[in-house]
Amino acid sequence: MPLSSKPYWFVLGREPLLSLAEILAATKVTTFNWLQPNIVSILSAQEPGPLVKQLGGTVKIAKELAHNVTLASFPDICLSFLTPLPGKIVFGLSFYQSESGKAHLTTKDLETLGKAIKRAGKNQGRSVRYIQNRTPILSSATVFHNGLVDRGVEFLIVPKGNSFMLARTVALQPFEDFSKRDYGRPASDARSGMLPPKLALMLLNFSGAPLSASILDPFCGSGTILMEALMRGFSTVSGSDVSPKAIADSQKNIDWLKGQWKTISGQAKLEVGDVQSLVDRLPAHSIDAIVTEPFLGPPQTGHASPAELENSSNDLLALYFTSFQQFKKILRPGGVIIFVVPRFKKTNGWLTISERLVPKLVQLGFVPQALLPPSLHSEPFLLYHRPDQHVAREIWKFVIPNN
Ligand SMILES: C[S@@+](CC[C@H](N)C(=O)[O-])C[C@H]1O[C@@H](n2cnc3c(N)ncnc32)[C@H](O)[C@@H]1O
Repeated sequence: MPLSSKPYWFVLGREPLLSLAEILAATKVTTFNWLQPNIVSILSAQEPGPLVKQLGGTVKIAKELAHNVTLASFPDICLSFLTPLPGKIVFGLSFYQSESGKAHLTTKDLETLGKAIKRAGKNQGRSVRYIQNRTPILSSATVFHNGLVDRGVEFLIVPKGNSFMLARTVALQPFEDFSKRDYGRPASDARSGMLPPKLALMLLNFSGAPLSASILDPFCGSGTILMEALMRGFSTVSGSDVSPKAIADSQKNIDWLKGQWKTISGQAKLEVGDVQSLVDRLPAHSIDAIVTEPFLGPPQTGHASPAELENSSNDLLALYFTSFQQFKKILRPGGVIIFVVPRFKKTNGWLTISERLVPKLVQLGFVPQALLPPSLHSEPFLLYHRPDQHVAREIWKFVIPNN
């Protein structure tokens, strides 16, 4: 680690384990320090702010400023970072803590602190605006719209023992861009279900593929993964789907994307086709990475009988196995697959497919690769699930060894 490395905080999104796995895969970082269940600290020689645009699961990146900050020393320490700013000073405070501990701050405490900092600034003859909290954590929208990254400061506060640690936000996730791609795109297919763009980007990052890699989504639907691949900067992107409507939707969405983000230079090649005939359409060993959320079965409403769920999961097992037989032929040795395997909610737990699928894939020559170190996560896959959904997504990574 270079001597000049400094700690930066990565504030993780709603699925902290997925967010961490994405950071590890995308940056190749191996050492980190948990500060809170949704904040990790990582040493970096360069300011990692620009990374926030390349990650789907990191909400804020902040530079660590101070340790052992007591309530009494807070105003002076904050002020020492604020007074070098030119013109009117604008700042806000965000307190991150999962449970109340010794060094807890309520919204009221934050307000008192904010006012004390403001007063101290005024005493030095400065004009100061404090962005008051309604919740302990300022939303990205509040931070963005008040210019707290470019012109002002958002202080992030985390408790440590009896005192606090302090950091300053240096980059925010481009949340408006994600939302525009999620809700503003011209074609979406509510029936087959849309992957959230942030999750699509995370799947791409899990692959660890370089931007020069050729990427394929053979169940592309309305093109969410393809769009995020183009946004991320991959130049060789292709997608196929058995449904002509899906391919027409993907084309519409990609044309729209390129109209909205003129910097995109990559091309997406789209084709109608069954996953079971991939080898007829693509040269052998021509693809570096397959990143896909496949067909997940008929939409689930929670009313399927155990027999219906069993039948549907048997069909999916067969479809996925034949898909991997095809993948083996078109993927280059050393190639990688990120594949979503559904699991279905039953009255007494989950009906899983991977328990039967993965041993068959191993026999085919695929090697599952854990996305997190075993010390952190005992399963070889990551789970993405919303409590109101009847289907959960297991995210798996497989590689084909080089020999
Ligand atoms: C879950 S959707 C993918 C959604 C996509 N990730 C998105 O966000 O738009 C699955 C897609 O698989 C396609 N599909 C189903 N069976 C297929 C097959 N045998 N070969 C190729 N595509 C198939 C469906 O038409 C559907 O568009």
